[in-house]
Amino acid sequence: MQIRPAAPADVAAIQAVVAAAFGQPDEARLVDRLRADGDTLVELVADKDRAIVGHILFSRLGIGALAGAALAPVAVAPAHQRGGIGGALIRAGLDRCRQRGVPAVVVLGHPAYYPRFGFDAALAAPLAAPFAGPALMAIELTPGALAGGGALAYAPAFGI
Ligand SMILES: CC(C)(COP(=O)(O)OP(=O)(O)OC[C@H]1O[C@@H](n2cnc3c(N)ncnc32)[C@H](O)[C@@H]1OP(=O)(O)O)[C@@H](O)C(=O)NCCC(=O)NCCS
Repeated sequence: MQIRPAAPADVAAIQAVVAAAFGQPDEARLVDRLRADGDTLVELVADKDRAIVGHILFSRLGIGALAGAALAPVAVAPAHQRGGIGGALIRAGLDRCRQRGVPAVVVLGHPAYYPRFGFDAALAAPLAAPFAGPALMAIELTPGALAGGGALAYAPAFGI
């Protein structure tokens, strides 16, 4: 299994994996729209024997004056879940964001899953967001990046 950047030829396979993982087409449409709008920062696939079995996308996210990233969505094909692929995608994606100088990443996700990658609800709590609570988590890729707080500005594709 290889984690690699998404390529134009992967688009249909990504749509299929994302729709299968979520059991509905909404998140696959979100991925297409983010790409069409040019709001994708990092997009990776998990490639197993030339089949796409997982996908992750990080999009532009204003965090006050910071050019941060939103992690959404991450998806693993149902038959391949619970084998570490989701974790590998998240870790590789965070590494890419760090390499690109992204200071912080925000995710809205399951509070039992994301802390193992360093996401922390306490770091996100001071941010002015359209949603609040333990599902909103953040990770600083530049230490102290979130100390100043700030309002979250999601890409238009999210419709927030
Ligand atoms: C969430 C998802 C990407 C995780 O990928 P994965 O390859 O199955 O994850 P990993 O194998 O790296 O990690 C598995 C662990 O994650 C945890 N986990 C996975 N999905 C979880 C969920 N929805 N809620 C809470 N914990 C979850 C479990 O604790 C599991 O550990 P276990 O095997 O000891 O029970 C995948 O399950 C998926 O595509 N789900 C449907 C789409 C989705 O909900 N995406 C996240 C929201 S953007």
